[in-house]
Amino acid sequence: MQKKSEVKILGIESSCDDTSAAVVCDGKLLSNVINSQSIHEKYGGVVPELASRAHQQNIVVVVNEALSRAEVSMSELDAIAFTKGPGLLGSLLVGASFAKGLSVSLGIPLVGVNHLHGHILAHFLREKDEDECVPQFPFLCLLVSGGHSQIVLVKDYLDFEIIGKTIDDAAGEAFDKCAKVMGLPYPGGPVIDKLSKVGDENRFKFSKPSIPGFDYSFSGLKTSFLYTVRDEMANNPNFITENVNDLAASLQKTIIDILFNKLEKVVKQTGIRRVAISGGVSANSGLRNRMLLYAERKKWQVYIPKISYTTDNAAMIALVGYYMYQKGKISPLSVIPQARINFMDL
Ligand code: KG4
Ligand code: ZN
Repeated sequence: MQKKSEVKILGIESSCDDTSAAVVCDGKLLSNVINSQSIHEKYGGVVPELASRAHQQNIVVVVNEALSRAEVSMSELDAIAFTKGPGLLGSLLVGASFAKGLSVSLGIPLVGVNHLHGHILAHFLREKDEDECVPQFPFLCLLVSGGHSQIVLVKDYLDFEIIGKTIDDAAGEAFDKCAKVMGLPYPGGPVIDKLSKVGDENRFKFSKPSIPGFDYSFSGLKTSFLYTVRDEMANNPNFITENVNDLAASLQKTIIDILFNKLEKVVKQTGIRRVAISGGVSANSGLRNRMLLYAERKKWQVYIPKISYTTDNAAMIALVGYYMYQKGKISPLSVIPQARINFMDL
């Protein structure tokens, strides 16, 4: 049989509060449409029920738009990739059900993708024909998002090993929860990032964990931040308003110090100096600058994703789908999304 020249994959992402669809052709990105749900802002966090409803409302429009921008018709698709977890179950179910319906009606395979693999492989997204600067295997990836903080050894496209992970909160959660303490809107990470630019990062000291090995912990920092604010407010009710920039900058610096402390140890232990960052928190300007600093001072080869590929998007899901499809890793139609999913689960 003659080999098909082009493989076109539609990716669907609906794990949290972004409804997204993308088309990838032979690993090259043709379109990536993201509808970020703004409804959650006023609640100070994602409301699962509202997220599912918004996905249900948006998904048809988002998928049609992705196909239209890619100039690809449904009949040209080879497979449908969708996020099978981790994430909010109601949100995942919308994407999974939609993907199943399409897969059955078009008679093409379904590929369930682990969302976290998507964040890592976002480094291989290319928009042009020629190869852009992508990491060589093996490399280390600091995956920092709203729900995850881990250091992963990436041996191949679909071959990973977790070297260290958080034992409690994720880095993104530390940003979001501390922002909430200061009465800042959700998601707090980008707001703290912005305020930090005009704040003194050495003004406040917050506690850093001292757990052995390569694991992270952020719950102590969150408590230390909360107590500092509470104690200062007892003396000065305007403490937050008067010090918000310095609080933000000091918090951001502490989170980055914690992340790099372990990352540096892993680089030393493994001898691997190719280091990537990914996930929503990798959009943070302080974290990105620290990577550049380490590239210069410690001669790390660093990989920093485009801002648009840091937060949730279907482009990364379509790309993982492409690699899985190539390896014959097809999901049965009985596949069910899972809110919690083992990182190693392909
Ligand atoms: O990867 P993501 O979009 O969703 C998950 O899979 O969790 O990550 C969302 C997280 C949120 O905690 C958000 O506050 C954080 O990424 N984030 C940032 C920045 N942009 C997004 N944190 C710090 N600085 C940013 N610029
Ligand atoms: Zn994510």
